[in-house]
Amino acid sequence: MKIAPSILSADFANLQHEVAQVEQAGAQYLHLDVMDGHFVPNLSFGVPIIKALRPHSKMIFDCHLMVSHPEDYITQLASAGADIIGVHYEATAHIYRLLQLIHKVGCKAEVVLNPGTPLGVLQELYSELDAVLIMTVNPGFGGQKFIPEILDKIERLAHLKKERGLLFEIEVDGGIDDQTIALCHEKGATVAVAGSFIFGGTSPKAQVEVLRKVAGD
Ligand code: DX5
Ligand code: ZN
Repeated sequence: MKIAPSILSADFANLQHEVAQVEQAGAQYLHLDVMDGHFVPNLSFGVPIIKALRPHSKMIFDCHLMVSHPEDYITQLASAGADIIGVHYEATAHIYRLLQLIHKVGCKAEVVLNPGTPLGVLQELYSELDAVLIMTVNPGFGGQKFIPEILDKIERLAHLKKERGLLFEIEVDGGIDDQTIALCHEKGATVAVAGSFIFGGTSPKAQVEVLRKVAGD
């Protein structure tokens, strides 16, 4: 599995240092949670922070948009250096158009599903999908408890992917630690986002190494 540290739980006064630590530990993705206080009841950071971090890292910038009107931010995010843009199915009336737009600006397109959103909504989207992010908590905050019922959803998605011979990544986000990462890996997830587990302790580097040991590529 690829490890995607989420800087939501990092020390915002020391971002450059925190990012360097997880990169040195072998994390392939950097997960960037953009929240607007509307789609989710929390504010985090926006495009300027992503742009500021870009020259300091070679990791894949995986931007998770938790905003209303995500279409307004796609072009800006691409110019700021996003590699993958994840948009919530629940945040737009025009998901297909949004995925096309993400591809048009040269990024990889990911659809994010809240815990209560069924997999069936992906049915007509597979041709436009590079990745699916399955939320394993309700979006909006770091440090929440993993919802075990979602394991079945991951397994069903992995099955669907295999059945159709598709190649999209299956990313999981929320409550990922050294235990839950193994459960998700077993069910077929290929990318694990982790915020508080990595940045909540004293050494982000050591924590990435723990996750890599349990379920790394
Ligand atoms: C929550 C965010 C997550 C968050 C995960 O809405 O999408 O990426 O940072 O945090 P942990 O790993 O602490 O659950
Ligand atoms: Zn996220």
